[in-house]
This record gives sequence, C-alpha cells and structure tokens, in this order.
Amino acid sequence: MILFNRIKSFLFRLDYLKIYKSKYLYKYLYLICFKIVNLCRWVVSFFIKKKANNLNDFFKRIGIIWYGGNEGHTQQVKRETDFLEKQSRSKTKILEIGFNGGHSSETFLNSNSSLTVDSIDIGYHHYVNFGKYYLKKRFTKRFNLHIGESRKVLPDLLKKELIFDLIFIDGSHEYKDVITDLEICSKLSDKDTLVILDDVYYEKDKDGLSSVDNHNLGPTKAWNEFKLKNLVIEDGYIEFETENTNKRSIVYGKFTF
Ligand SMILES: C[S@@+](CC[C@H](N)C(=O)[O-])C[C@H]1O[C@@H](n2cnc3c(N)ncnc32)[C@H](O)[C@@H]1O
Repeated sequence: MILFNRIKSFLFRLDYLKIYKSKYLYKYLYLICFKIVNLCRWVVSFFIKKKANNLNDFFKRIGIIWYGGNEGHTQQVKRETDFLEKQSRSKTKILEIGFNGGHSSETFLNSNSSLTVDSIDIGYHHYVNFGKYYLKKRFTKRFNLHIGESRKVLPDLLKKELIFDLIFIDGSHEYKDVITDLEICSKLSDKDTLVILDDVYYEKDKDGLSSVDNHNLGPTKAWNEFKLKNLVIEDGYIEFETENTNKRSIVYGKFTF
C-alpha cells in the first residue's frame, strides 16, 4: 500500500520540468507515464466537470496537487483572495497577466456575475489547460484565456482598443517583463482603472527580518520606477501573513494620465 501510494504520488507530481531534468531512458519513460496520466485526467475531467464544486475541487478530483513544485496561487492566502474578491465586486472588465491554474481568475468570476475576465499565460505549466477547461465550461463567454507571452499578447488587445477597469499583474517576475507589462497595461486603462501588482515587497528597516528576494525584486524595482516617474499613483500596499515563510504582498494604484 505504501509503495502504491508512493508511485501514485510520483506520477501525480510529474511535469515537464521533472521530465526535462531526468536522464537517458528515464526521460522517455517519464514522458510516456505523464502522457498516460494526463490522458486519464482529460477523461475524468469530462465526466466530473459539472460535479466539481470549485476549481480546487476539480483539480483534486483529477489528481493535480498544489505542492512546492507548482507555482503559488492567490487562493492559498485567504486575505489575498478576500482582497481581490472585494476589489472586483464593482468591476465589469478584468485583465489578468499570469493565469497559472486559474485560481485568481475564479475569484474574480465568482465575485460578480456581470464581469468578464481576459487572462494571459505563457502556458509553461501543463495544468493551465485543465484550469482553462474547467473555467470555460463554468463561466463560458465571461472568461477568455490567451496563451502566450504577455509582451506578445497585450499588443493584440491594444489593437482592439480595449479598456479594463481592473488589471491584475501576476505573470513574469523579471524586471524588464514587468516594466513592459506596466507600460502596455497603462494603455489599456483609463483614469479609474485599478492596477494591482503582485509580489511587490518593501524592504523592512534595519531591525526588520525581511528583505526583498529574487521573486520580489523585479516587480518591486519596476513599480518603484513607475512611481518615481509619476506614471502610477500608489493607493495601497498589503503584506499577507502566510503559514510558511514565503512573502506574499501586493501593491495597487492608478496610472496617471
Ligand atoms: C504566480 S503564477 C500566477 C498565479 C495566479 N494569478 C493565481 O493566483 O492563481 C504566474 C504565472 O505567470 C506565467 N508567466 C510567467 N511569465 C509569463 C509571461 N512572460 N507572460 C505570460 N505569463 C507568464 C507563469 O507561467 C505562471 O503560470
């Protein structure tokens, strides 16, 4: 039984990164196992899509588990989810960069039945497609996922002359990418658009325990630069307490015009 559980746990945690890192014949063996597991997941998805209570329940039923190897999501922190839910209640058109499994998209879509979400993701993670499948079935036309790098997808949205009333940026954490995201998003905004940038982290004073780490560096530097240039006005900054030591924080404000 213990061996069975170990094999199951290993198979459920297989992803492209693990396959890529493995060597020789293992690479092919893991790839075949991964394809079979995902095929089974699609079959199960088809039958349980209407039975699942929410996205987390859906992922659990198809054996996609959130562990250290996956990227974090906002529903792991209740206060962050509450914040996003509250901010989106009065909004109608939301743009999100960084879909991952779709947890923040789900929060927005649940907050008010008249809003739409356009989300962008580079699509590195195999579970992106499962999240998309579930949310598309549940929210149909209210939800759209654009797969691709944000710097390539955002200009397409610009061509459509779209204006969003809430923009949540939680994609690449590279400084240059965040700058590009902010620049293009400012053109998809008007004076009332609320922009929320995830993982901006302000360093504590010399007695504080925390400091900016690699994960927060790019977003923090990009946001500070935007503020210094008076391109954005900050309305608030929140640090969320988490059960582990990972820092979770966001900043929000409005672009200047
Ligand atoms: C932290 S996760 C987003 C979490 C999500 N907002 C949630 O709370 O459920 C970041 C996501 O951004 C995606 N990403 C990274 N670089 C990107 C880029 N240049 N363009 C679009 N998406 C990107 C990653 O693949 C990942 O899925």
